[in-house]
Amino acid sequence: MVTILVTGGRGHVARAVVGGLLAAGERVRVASRSPERAMVPSGVETVRADLADPATLSAALEGVRKVFLYADARGLDGFVAAAEAAGSPDVVLLSALGADGGDHTRDPIVRMHHTAEDTLRRSALAWTFLRPGAFATNTLQWAPAIRATGTVEAPYPLAHAASVHEADIADVAVLALTEDGHRGRVHPLTGPASVTQQEQVDCLSAATGRKIVLAEIGPEEYRATLHQWGDEEMVDTLLGHLSDADNRPATVHSTYQDLMGRPGRTYAQWALDHADDFR
Ligand SMILES: NC(=O)c1ccc[n+]([C@@H]2O[C@H](COP(=O)([O-])OP(=O)(O)OC[C@H]3O[C@@H](n4cnc5c(N)ncnc54)[C@H](OP(=O)(O)O)[C@@H]3O)[C@@H](O)[C@H]2O)c1
Repeated sequence: MVTILVTGGRGHVARAVVGGLLAAGERVRVASRSPERAMVPSGVETVRADLADPATLSAALEGVRKVFLYADARGLDGFVAAAEAAGSPDVVLLSALGADGGDHTRDPIVRMHHTAEDTLRRSALAWTFLRPGAFATNTLQWAPAIRATGTVEAPYPLAHAASVHEADIADVAVLALTEDGHRGRVHPLTGPASVTQQEQVDCLSAATGRKIVLAEIGPEEYRATLHQWGDEEMVDTLLGHLSDADNRPATVHSTYQDLMGRPGRTYAQWALDHADDFR
């Protein structure tokens, strides 16, 4: 049996990938910057590894044939060198929608994933790119306010997203890591429907059994909340995405249905799965 390395072990997607691989009977090694805080089932091997610190990667990659990989803002050159030296395992990269298109320099999120994809394309490694759109977990940013006051303050209540459940991303990652035929393929991933922010809040109300209010505020007032995600460029980008999505349904990709033979999980399902985070 081959060993599959899952990087970023404490991440939402990584944890779901680990769960899926174990359920499929695979041998998993979980790499994290803080493995002692990784919530892995007992008996699963963990290793300390940091994509930004290539010296930590050789041991993590020893004997590994496949890798679930996060992009890193500081680039993936160190990872690629370590992976090539370790026998060139196949890589399934957690990338992002838009990583191939348009002007890569304007949006820091797209830029990071474009660079990660480009680095892998130029490497000796076989790769599969998972390109999810907006994560349903983005709405966890509302959780502290909802728990404290039952109110979310945000602009553009009718801004759309085809939010994707981390378990759907993980299902496709597990498929790509365990089944032949995914080398060189790109899998765009969204949830099964476009939903507005108001509809998301309504789903959270239904899931928690508590009336949650979306109180509209102006975009400028929202900036303070967005600073948790990064610098001024990142805040401008996120506000721009919200404004672009106002009253505009998001594109829905059929990849999950095509690959898994069933529809992806809805935002309403995600809200049920995460209801305790909002209580
Ligand atoms: N959000 C979106 O809408 C979206 C859309 C497309 C692509 N993406 C990409 O998806 C990736 C994020 O995936 P994700 O949601 O699985 O990541 P996440 O849960 O935000 O975690 C990201 C990383 O932070 C570390 N981490 C996790 N929990 C932590 C904690 N409690 N304290 C400190 N560090 C913690 C983990 O690495 P260690 O275990 O090594 O510390 C983890 O891999 C990014 O590359 C992002 O650009 C996001």
